[in-house]
Order: sequence, then C-alpha cells, then structure tokens
Amino acid sequence: MAFTNEHPLRLCNLSWLARLGIAGLVLAALGGTAASGIYLYLHHENRDERPGMTIDDVKAHYHGIVAEAPLLAALERGHPDDLNADDRERLIEWLRDDSSRLSQTFDSLDLGAFAPAEIIAVSCLGCHARTSTGDGEAADIPLEYWDDVEALSVSRDVQPVPVLILAASTHTHALGLASIAIAIGLLSLLTRWPRVVVGLVLALTGLGLAADLGGWWLTRTNPAFAYMIVAGGSAFGGGMTLLSLMVLLDICLPAPRPQAK
Ligand code: HEC
Repeated sequence: MAFTNEHPLRLCNLSWLARLGIAGLVLAALGGTAASGIYLYLHHENRDERPGMTIDDVKAHYHGIVAEAPLLAALERGHPDDLNADDRERLIEWLRDDSSRLSQTFDSLDLGAFAPAEIIAVSCLGCHARTSTGDGEAADIPLEYWDDVEALSVSRDVQPVPVLILAASTHTHALGLASIAIAIGLLSLLTRWPRVVVGLVLALTGLGLAADLGGWWLTRTNPAFAYMIVAGGSAFGGGMTLLSLMVLLDICLPAPRPQAK
C-alpha cells in the first residue's frame, strides 16, 4: 500500500449525531478561548497601575516594574533649567510625600503661592498647557489639571507574580491548553482542507503556545521577552480559533463526492 497523508477516517463521513457532538465540543473550546482572552484583559489590565492594557501590564506581571514618577525624575534631573531652587525643592518634597496625600496638598490654600498647583501654574504651564505654542513647548504633556499631574506623580513598585504561583499556573496552563490544542489539532487533520493549510495553522498554534509559556519564564529575567508572550499568545489564540472554524465548517458542509481513482 502506498503511503498517504490521508487518514481513512474523515469528519464529513461521520454520522450526523457524531458530528453534532463534535460541533458542540469544538464550540465549547472556542468559547473557552474567547473567555480566557476576556479574563486576561480584566485581570491584567491594571497590573502596571495604569489604566488600559499595554505591554507594561505584561512586563509588570512577569517581571515587575519599578519606576520613579516621571514628574519627580524630570525635576531631579534639572528640568526645567530655569526653575528656581526653592520651588524645585518644594515640588520634590511634595512628590516624595505619602502618595495618598498628594491630592490634598496639591492646591492647599494654607500653602498659598507655595502650593504645588501654584508653582506649576507659574513655572510650567507656559510650555505644559494644552494650548501652549512656540519654542520648546510640551502641549502633549499637559500639567493643567490635577488629573494631568496625578498621572505623572505616582512612583511604581509592582512586584512580579511569585515563582510558586507562576509554576502552578504554568503547570495547569501547559497541560490544559496543550491537551485541548492536540485534540482540536487531530480533528483538523481529519478535515477535507488542504494539508498545507492545516499544517501551517497547526504549526502557528503549537509554536505559539510554546513561545507564550516559555516567555513567562524568560520575561522574569528580561522584560523584553514580554513581546514573545504577546506574539505567542496571539498566535495560539488565533490558531485555535482558525482550527476550530475549519473543523466546524467541515462538519457542516455536505461530504465531497469520492474522487475517481
Ligand atoms: C520651556 C518650556 C518648558 C517648561 C517651562 C517646562 N517644561 Fe517640562 N517639558 C518641556 C519639553 C519640551 C518636554 C519634552 C522633552 C523632554 O522630556 O525634555 C518636557 C517634558 C516634561 C516632562 C516629561 C519628562 C519625561 O521623562 O517624560 C515632565 C514630567 C515635565 N516636563 C515637567 C515639567 C514641570 C513640572 C515643569 C515646571 C516646574 C516644566 N516641565 C516646565 C518643556 C518645558
């Protein structure tokens, strides 16, 4: 017998009951993939203590983020160069204070002209207002309102996920996701779609999962690997979705007529 890539078992030749069952299971797996995407967003969105899901959330979770408040960093490195020393000292002292008190003292009436809001209005808004124009302006970094200032005032010290939890999470994710992907992958090999297409998507899915999970551990030592997690995770999620759709479509379409030998 000549070697062939084709398995004698084909999804489209199964009874409609069997196909119905497979459709339900694949739909459930597809729903699971979508749910894990939503969970990921909600769970990690604020991981870097800034709203919105960015690469920093991934870095914060797997590597941790320690960053000085941009406002403090700018003042300490001597920006702006024409700020008088006393005002610089006042602003730095205010920023170093307990972060929960920053908003109360920001425009404190007791401090009068020495309140941070007043110093900023006088010394910074020439360049840092949304309407600032002219030489050396920074209208894209506004400091007009408390919300503007607050976003640049908080220092971050985000600790990464503990190793024990990372290990437990790797264990459940690796075994669970690999098992379901192997099952869907095998089903996709029993479809009518061209072997190259199925093979390509399978490669994407498998390498994606390996890169994603491997990235968790690599990012622990080097935050640049966060991009590997995102790329791998997207490849895996996209691959799983494509494989599932190929299986579902194959199940729904009528069986192709056998080819003349
Ligand atoms: C003469 C114009 C000018 C004045 C006055 C000025 N800035 Fe800026 N500022 C800039 C420009 C331009 C940038 C963007 C380039 C840079 O980072 O140096 C900037 C950047 C910044 C940044 C962002 C730095 C970063 O690392 O992202 C902060 C924070 C900042 N300024 C705070 C202040 C504060 C506080 C004051 C007042 C005490 C002030 N600036 C006064 C022009 C100004």
